[in-house]
Amino acid sequence: MGISFHNPISKAVRPEDTAETLSEYRRSQGRGKEEYARMVTAFYDLITDFYEYGWGQSFHFAPMKVGESFEEAIVGHEYFLGEAIGLRPGMKVLDVGCGVGGPQRFLAGKFGASIVGLNINEYQLGKCSVYNSKAGLDHLCSVLHGDFLNIPAEDGSFDAAYHIEAMPHAPDKTAAYAEIFRVLRPGAVFAGYDWCMTPLYDGANPEHRELKTGIEYGNALPEIASFTEVNDSLRSVGFELVEAHDRALDANPKTPWYQSLEGNGLKLRSFPRTSLGRRVTSAALRVLESVRAVPRGSFEVQKILNIAADSCVASGRLGIFTPMYYHKARKPG
Ligand SMILES: C[S@@+](CC[C@H](N)C(=O)[O-])C[C@H]1O[C@@H](n2cnc3c(N)ncnc32)[C@H](O)[C@@H]1O
Repeated sequence: MGISFHNPISKAVRPEDTAETLSEYRRSQGRGKEEYARMVTAFYDLITDFYEYGWGQSFHFAPMKVGESFEEAIVGHEYFLGEAIGLRPGMKVLDVGCGVGGPQRFLAGKFGASIVGLNINEYQLGKCSVYNSKAGLDHLCSVLHGDFLNIPAEDGSFDAAYHIEAMPHAPDKTAAYAEIFRVLRPGAVFAGYDWCMTPLYDGANPEHRELKTGIEYGNALPEIASFTEVNDSLRSVGFELVEAHDRALDANPKTPWYQSLEGNGLKLRSFPRTSLGRRVTSAALRVLESVRAVPRGSFEVQKILNIAADSCVASGRLGIFTPMYYHKARKPG
């Protein structure tokens, strides 16, 4: 097997702008509501192509069963959400933070619902549109550029909404949920998978705190919420919380969600995701950057992704963090 290598910088960023986009990402971190949009946009401009290369068109984790492939687990996780919402033909549904649309296309194709993908990142949205057309799904899938804190849609205009790992980016969850609540019709369901610190997280433990900071720093996130914060925020804007649990606990303990970052079952396509793949890429980038064969900043971006991945794996092993806190809520009426 040849060793695969891929520059982590997306085509969204011109080579000469890489270092500045990276600085923008760093500058906007930790500045909460004031700068979150710049932070998220810079981050996804930098890493979208690399995510796609290593991960595919769905940018999320999944609980895994023994013997299941990564790809099967990914669509299984999406299917679970589609069923939970009760997707069916004729429904108009909002995918909040749609990425490049992997989940949107799978769910629209599987359940026949019309899905509008909302995203703050225009580069991702451009890709999403192209992929929707290529998949022959333009009649069901469309895109909407905008911020989930200020959704450009009429009150009560959607029959359901979901998010897959997009809400962790919200600098104010209550404000984001309030917007989603507003655009749903009475009786509509909103469900999703959020990134949360679990009840095993101990804020007084320096190792726990360091891992939490690593996940936030490496993934363009504000403070990661607890289960209680998610539940309380949903209720505070008027949703009835129907059910919520950590789907990481649904996985077989032999095949935890973070296995995809550890390097088991190595094959070429998964290699860039793995611990070894990340180190090989880093080493190559350091050399290539020194001879100016890749843009200045490439090594640093890869380092950020490594911190993210290592912190996810370590906190997953400790059980203090989950990227799949499933919650389903209903707008009364
Ligand atoms: C981890 S990715 C998940 C993408 C997609 N749900 C998937 O599973 O493939 C998070 C997504 O949320 C989007 N996002 C982050 N903040 C946003 C905001 N304020 N408004 C709209 N989208 C946002 C990002 O651009 C990105 O596409």
